[in-house]
Order: sequence, then structure tokens, then C-alpha cells
Amino acid sequence: MSKDWKTRLIHSDVTVPPGFRALTTPVYRASTVLFPEASAATDHWNQYEVGYTYGMYGTPTVLELAARICELEKGFRTVVTPGGQGALSLIHLALLKNGDHVLLPESIYGPNRALANQVLRRFGVEVSYYPPSAGSGVVSAFKPNTRVVWCESPGSITMEVQDVPAIAEAAHRHGALVVLDNTWSAGIYFDAFAHGVDITMQALTKYIGGHSDLLLGSVTVCDPQLHERLGQTHQAIGCPASPDDCSLALRGMKTMAVRLKVVGESALSLARWLAQRPEIELVLHPALPSCPGHELWKRDFTGSTGLFSVVFRKGFTREQVLKFVDALELFEIGYSWGGVTSLVMSYQLESPKRPAYGHRIVRLYTGLETLDDLRADLEQALSALK
Ligand SMILES: Cc1ncc(COP(=O)(O)O)c(C=O)c1O
Repeated sequence: MSKDWKTRLIHSDVTVPPGFRALTTPVYRASTVLFPEASAATDHWNQYEVGYTYGMYGTPTVLELAARICELEKGFRTVVTPGGQGALSLIHLALLKNGDHVLLPESIYGPNRALANQVLRRFGVEVSYYPPSAGSGVVSAFKPNTRVVWCESPGSITMEVQDVPAIAEAAHRHGALVVLDNTWSAGIYFDAFAHGVDITMQALTKYIGGHSDLLLGSVTVCDPQLHERLGQTHQAIGCPASPDDCSLALRGMKTMAVRLKVVGESALSLARWLAQRPEIELVLHPALPSCPGHELWKRDFTGSTGLFSVVFRKGFTREQVLKFVDALELFEIGYSWGGVTSLVMSYQLESPKRPAYGHRIVRLYTGLETLDDLRADLEQALSALK
């Protein structure tokens, strides 16, 4: 059929040489996916079953990232979401309904708590919290309608390592599902499914992305029925991951082993050094005995990463703690972690259900800078308090 040039801008007859091979996954950006014939068109979300249908459910770039996360976490399927918070929202919405009860540890990531308190409760879901160190004692928090028990190990900011297998066993006896936020371990140093977890999620924003330039999350399951529930909910709420971000995450992933090694070693070395400092009361690093649940970390984890917290001795004022944070030159002040840059953030823990660290707790993320420089930076910032 003859075509005007304006039509050719859209419907071209050109071809390019076939057989291109490279080490990188192409960025397939698409909303519309083409079907070979009218009868083949379907809006089914499960592209593993029916082939590609719509960009919402993932282009090949997105599905490759999903499959690679799934391979690392030894699951059946992974769903990639736009941000870690999107991943945990998807899990809540897929598993819970009006009248159900969800249990979360007191140490859960703050925005997860906010979602449960502000959104789930509005939809008639009962929400309550248990001490992160409860282990099998979590049973005392169960209600007849408890459907989901969350774990996050180590916990956000206060770093309590949880007895996930004990919690999973108790939850399963009760007929509840166990979800783990496994971001700290990068899905690598804690084998979620081998420890009884049903659904594991991580913020790929952190170690998989690795360069502080993207927001992605993942949800991984072993059970095809759980995948079905997640897939249907993912379709219904519409939270597609960007293929561009997935492409960056695929690149980040290739260097994750070397990055994790360096940030893990540097963080541990700094944590040990800080533990000797007179200004510091407590170092909350899972690989140090001073961290609640350290014995569980030794039993269940195969490594440690770059994030830990310190608690200043009693008597240090909030102004002094902020002065320390401001005096740091290499540790930048900013949320999130898992990139190449060291970061610091101070917190104010006020709830009576949390450890009484108050304003004295500071979280550190160790990046890829030279260890001696990071130590010197901490030293000069501590000296500034004199
Ligand atoms: C433990 C944990 N889970 C989930 C998230 C959410 O990830 P995102 O920032 O990609 O939404 C974060 C982010 O800081 C986190 O620290």
C-alpha cells in the first residue's frame, strides 16, 4: 500500500540488520503491546501464562529484572513495583480485607506503619504491633482474625534482629501468612523462604539500584496461588515499574556483589571503632553483640551490609547530636541508603513502646569511600562535640 510521508512517520517499512547481541538488556518502553490478530487480544495480567498483553504488567526489561530478583531469592515469581513503599502497599492490599487483623513489629519501617494506621484501618482492617524480640511469644498478640504477620529484620533505625523462623512457625500454626521486609540483607544475606517466610519484599531502591538514582521495589513468593493474588491486585491498583528504572537496576545488580562486600566490611569496621568511643553508649549493628538479636543474626544471616545505628551516651543533648551530624563532611544528610555515598540521619524516638534512645540515636550508612577517610570524618565530627 502506498503511504504518504506523514503516515510513514508512524508506519515505516524499514528494517535493520538482525542478529544484534550485547551484554545489556534493552530498555523496552511500552504501554501498547501488539497482538498478531484480533482473537489473540487479551488484558490478562499473567504474561508468564498468556504472553505479552500490556505495558502495565511489565515489558521484557521489567520481567527480566523480576526474574533475576526471583532467581536470587529462590522464589517462584517476583512482581516489580515503583518503589519499596509500593511493594509493601501491594502486599497489604493483596492479602487483607475488611475484618482481618494484621500484626507488625514495633520496629517496622515508618511509612509501612503509616500505611497500616492511616489507610488499612480506614478500610476496616485491624492493625496492632508486637515487640520485635517476641519470637514465638508473638502468639500472645494473635487474634482469631490475624491473617498476616509482618517481620522486618533487622528493624528500621533500632536494628533489632528478629527470630523469623519462630514467628513463622507460630503464624503458620495460627493459619496466618508471614511477610518479610528483607531490604537490609539485599535479599542475599538472609534466605527468607528457607526461614519460613511466605512473601518477601525489598526496596530495590537500595542495594540492587545501588546508585541513589531510582525507586523500585520487589515482592517475591514461592506459592503460585499467592502470585495469583498479587498479580490480580497489581493489575487492579495499577502500579507499573518504569522500564528505564528497571534497566538501571539490572545494571546496578551486576556490581552488587563487590559493592556489598565493601560497604559491609567498612560498616563493620566503623561500628567496631565507634563502640570504643567514649561518646557512644551503644552500637546497633547486627554483627556486634551489643545489637538486640545478635545471636539470631549469627544463626540465620550469612553477612552484614552497610546500615547501622549508634546511640550517644545519656547527657548528650539534641543540639549536640545535631551538631555531630552537621559536622560530618563525607556522610551526607539524606534518607534512603544502599548507594555509593555514605549517609547519616538523626531520629527522635518518642513512643514508650520503642527503646528509650530518644534523640540520642543516629543512623549511619557506609558507602564506597575509603574507610580511613570515613573514620577520620567520624572522628573530627565527634571531636567537634568537645
Ligand atoms: C526497610 C525499608 N523498607 C522499605 C523502604 C521503602 O523503599 P522506597 O524508598 O523505595 O519506597 C525503605 C526505604 O527507606 C526501607 O528502609
